[in-house]
Amino acid sequence: MTPAISVSGLTKRFGPKTVVDRLTMTVGAGQIAGFLGPNGSGKTTTLRMLCGLLTPDEGTGTCLDLDIRQQAAEIKRQIGYMTQKFSFYEDLTIAENLEFVARVHGLPQRRALVAATLDRLGLADRRKQLAGELSGGWKQRLALAACILHRPRLLLLDEPTAGVDPKARRAFWENIHDLAADGMTVLVSTHYMDEAERCHAIAYIAYGHLLAQGSVADVIASAGLTTFTVRSDGTDPRALSTLTAPLRALPGVDLVAAFGSALHVGGASRSALLAAIAPWQSTPGLIWQEDRPTLEDVFIHLMARSQDPYAGGAP
Ligand SMILES: Nc1ncnc2c1ncn2[C@@H]1O[C@H](COP(=O)(O)OP(=O)(O)O)[C@@H](O)[C@H]1O
Ligand SMILES: [Mg+2]
Repeated sequence: MTPAISVSGLTKRFGPKTVVDRLTMTVGAGQIAGFLGPNGSGKTTTLRMLCGLLTPDEGTGTCLDLDIRQQAAEIKRQIGYMTQKFSFYEDLTIAENLEFVARVHGLPQRRALVAATLDRLGLADRRKQLAGELSGGWKQRLALAACILHRPRLLLLDEPTAGVDPKARRAFWENIHDLAADGMTVLVSTHYMDEAERCHAIAYIAYGHLLAQGSVADVIASAGLTTFTVRSDGTDPRALSTLTAPLRALPGVDLVAAFGSALHVGGASRSALLAAIAPWQSTPGLIWQEDRPTLEDVFIHLMARSQDPYAGGAP
């Protein structure tokens, strides 16, 4: 199967700053791939290079078998790109906005195309509503409609659900899965862990470096983290909160994160972690239990490592 996206050594500099550093990534056709990483890590810059809006300083690659350097104009025509900040005409209805987009792109049979797209995304009932009066979730869906109007085979979505409520986010993801079921490939950047778990594959980028790639299970396994969950037995409500700082200071402890009323404590070296926490495991009032690391544990760990260039985090 030919991948929908295949790039190698992609590098982009702005002035003295290398914001994407030798990124090599593949997204299989028909997959939903999640693109994760802290703000400022180069996700948007990468998406812009993939869709031909920005020329890489180094590296090569293809999108839909088209060369990202030589065939940028053709790529732009064949893919859908939803930017982080999209906009429409607030005083036009949903349908009018889409008809306008269709006209700008010179698409044939505009009426039928708009009607089919409205149906496909469950927007038909609201076709006469003004875009300016829509809630965040419906605006998001209108933006998605605008970028699938020309029936692209590849969708690049840049934080499409940022600031959208959980119900609307779920609905949006139903749409994404429907589109993928029809054969569309989707690369979507997100900060939400539950969304990452809905992807066939994920890539985690921090400060321009790709730190992990694969299925959620692969990424968790390859981090090689050992994790424990610590809970209070209820006798001393402060037992947990006084634990965080001393644990963080211990060599061998790479991760301390609060999850509700529990603490996740983890480390990349199992023996070093076990040695570090041993004295704390007999502390009265605490219940320690070894657990499977979550995706969030792994990301917190990757992020912490990547902030320290001397910790050997960056490849
Ligand atoms: N046009 C530009 N000129 C200069 N610096 C830029 C430009 N675009 C992005 N950057 C910088 O590149 C880095 C990566 O940005 P971006 O790709 O937007 O990250 P992300 O989408 O992961 O938050 C940031 O430090 C940002 O300030
Ligand atoms: Mg961004």
